[in-house]
Amino acid sequence: MMYREIGSEFWDSGGGTNASRKDLPSWLDWGTENRFLASGRTALDFIIRDILATQKFQRVYLPSYCCHTMIDPFLAHNIEVEFYDVIINGSGLLEINLEQGQGCDVVLIMNYFGFIQSGFSEIIKQLKMKPSTVVIEDATHSAFCNKRFHEMSDYTYASFRKWFATPGGAIAAKMKSPFLIKAPQNVHTEYVNLRKGAMTSKAQYMNKKSSEKELYLKTFAEAENLLDQDYTDYLIDDLSMSILSRLNVDSLRKKRIQNGRLILEKMVEGKHVQKLISDISDDECPLFIPVKVHPTQRTNLKQYLSKNNVYCPSHWPSSPSHQLNARTIDLYNFELSIVCDQRYDKNHISKMITIINNFTT
Ligand SMILES: Cc1ncc(COP(=O)(O)O)c(C=O)c1O
Repeated sequence: MMYREIGSEFWDSGGGTNASRKDLPSWLDWGTENRFLASGRTALDFIIRDILATQKFQRVYLPSYCCHTMIDPFLAHNIEVEFYDVIINGSGLLEINLEQGQGCDVVLIMNYFGFIQSGFSEIIKQLKMKPSTVVIEDATHSAFCNKRFHEMSDYTYASFRKWFATPGGAIAAKMKSPFLIKAPQNVHTEYVNLRKGAMTSKAQYMNKKSSEKELYLKTFAEAENLLDQDYTDYLIDDLSMSILSRLNVDSLRKKRIQNGRLILEKMVEGKHVQKLISDISDDECPLFIPVKVHPTQRTNLKQYLSKNNVYCPSHWPSSPSHQLNARTIDLYNFELSIVCDQRYDKNHISKMITIINNFTT
């Protein structure tokens, strides 16, 4: 079936009915102990509070290329943030320059877009030479790779809502011992209801039962604003837990790898678009296929795509919490994320790539 549009927020696809926290699938068996929470930032805040329960920490070392939701929870605890460089290197590929993090008690690492950066194991080993250094791994983008995180990390977490249709949901895991702080008791009902409402309205639009686009866009934005203001100490909601525990991981992986490979094969690199990755191994699972587009062309390309009902986001919007410099700002200005998710088959992807290849300025 051809859809009215490609990309953007997932819509309600009827998955998940009764909540089931029993019999969790083995892929959700992360760490010595884990908690299912409302969102990625809720999970990160939970981890920060668990670390603070045993040690004071003053400074965290973060990747320059990150979402504001990976910075704000530290700032909210008055922790200083320092950034290591993640850049587009001379070969046009993503490069992570994480070395020592002098003076940082906590280091956050992540793989991008579901592609595994080599060398992290060695880096973690080096960081752990100082035993008090805590390594937090954001596994949001690597959550569906065969190796989702490093056993040597102290904590890991992932937000799931960018991967499939769910109102919310994230996991926080402590790798070598149980958490010291209590699990949250409450669900963020207002946020969950906004997301459910938005997903239902979008489903009506996608199924041509409504032509009302503004309503769901406004409700998704309202939910986002609410989460920005209020994200701490919330449990996952029952619907998200149910969707998560019933997820068909094999099919999600297979579809994304197939779609990603088709994009890499068919996309014509030229004046406007260059690939930031060259292939996808069987162990990886793409969230998006990242490409590089000159900033002036990127604005035009996005406008042209949206006229053709294709919505490809850029990661990430910079925020007042970011501290970007001449080296690290490029990724923010150049990156475009090509949609490859399991909602789409070969025909959708081929159509989208033809549209992208036909772009002229
Ligand atoms: C890498 C990464 N970590 C954390 C988050 C935060 O997750 P949430 O929006 O569920 O708080 C995001 C959000 O997109 C993300 O991309």
